[in-house]
Amino acid sequence: RALKDALAAGKTRGRCIVILGCRQVLPPELEREFVLLDFTLPGKETLGQVLDGICGSAKLKTPAGDDRDQILDAATGMTCTEAENAFALAIVESRKVDHAVVAREKAQTVKKSGLLEIVEVRETLNDIGGLDCLKSWLTQRRESFGERARQYRLPTPKGVLLLGVPGTGKSLCAKASASVLQRPLIRMDMGSMMGSLVGESEANLRAAIHVAEAIAPCIVWIDELDKGLAGSKSSGATDGGTSARVFGSFISWMQERTASVFVIATANDVTQLPPELLRKGRWDEIFWTDLPNSVERDAIWRIKIAQCGRDPKKFDVKALAGASEGYNGAEVEGVVADSLYRAFAEDREPTTEDIQQTLRDTVPLSKLSDQVDALRKWARGRARPATTPEPESLGRRITA
Ligand SMILES: Nc1ncnc2c1ncn2[C@@H]1O[C@H](COP(=O)(O)OP(=O)(O)OP(=O)(O)O)[C@@H](O)[C@H]1O
Ligand SMILES: [Mg+2]
Repeated sequence: RALKDALAAGKTRGRCIVILGCRQVLPPELEREFVLLDFTLPGKETLGQVLDGICGSAKLKTPAGDDRDQILDAATGMTCTEAENAFALAIVESRKVDHAVVAREKAQTVKKSGLLEIVEVRETLNDIGGLDCLKSWLTQRRESFGERARQYRLPTPKGVLLLGVPGTGKSLCAKASASVLQRPLIRMDMGSMMGSLVGESEANLRAAIHVAEAIAPCIVWIDELDKGLAGSKSSGATDGGTSARVFGSFISWMQERTASVFVIATANDVTQLPPELLRKGRWDEIFWTDLPNSVERDAIWRIKIAQCGRDPKKFDVKALAGASEGYNGAEVEGVVADSLYRAFAEDREPTTEDIQQTLRDTVPLSKLSDQVDALRKWARGRARPATTPEPESLGRRITA
């Protein structure tokens, strides 16, 4: 009441009231009276001042040139206090401001919020078997965040949606994209965004977006988007419309964002995705990852065998590729692991026969359900295949 009275009095005298807080929680009767100003996270210039301050008080020379750039890059996304702490810790640990220490501290602060996580990636395109169209699409965007691209006036890539059969390498591609684009990969968990209190979920999403935009240029990876948005269609009936509102804010951010944030999202249950999300123009491209064809299986067998420290040349990969129709990449990986167990138990090296035997003992998921067919039917015409279709499958489709 007192605040309302003060507001009325202020209006007549040309005064205004400023309320500060880290969360936007105003009682509904006051909400309409106030204008909300979001305070963004500090930019590089401000962080630079913090850095100078810390170096000054530690009597160290302030880093310059590339070194300074790397440190400030590592610090973006933190508040001034967090950056100050990270710089101070780096000085205590190594007598200089080491950007690796700052980056490590940032990964921890970002993770503490529970909404985002900076993912360290080791995966590269060489770890992916097949999916040639998707790989070359990503490779074309290799330098799109750099200075050269800006001068060329290349439009900044917005994002890509990967839909497809489970276990076909969607999450793997998302991780590998970070090494192609050479930007930090931030994982956003849509599920944990949905807080329990009304208004909290939207605030969570806003906070996460602020951090991502401060770290930009970066890649935001939303894994299993379908699970995160599962409730948004029936949201009005189940959660008072919270999921629908969060989804709405997400979509409008996708549309309007100006910071260089490349979004890479994966999903397999396309029926759970709201149609607005699949509209052309929302993404640069929507890719469909199908079960690997024989050429792709050949590549995946080689990669998986090599990953467990064995020489693929010692195995009859061609036969394995032929015998594993209907298996996805994850199942191939599982079969290789099982065969290792089989051979290890008998204290010898694994052979092609071990793998073939394991293959005979397992049934791929695709043979157990019709889901794959239903997904494939949906994707035809709606999403671009991640793999160049094999000539014979084209023929089959035409005759069918
Ligand atoms: N094309 C591929 N090349 C190499 N490895 C693959 C491929 N496809 C899948 N794998 C392997 O299978 C496992 C599962 O892959 P991933 O998690 O990327 O599948 P996904 O498509 O995201 O599945 P889901 O839809 O269930 O999330 C990973 O360990 C990955 O290394
Ligand atoms: Mg996945």
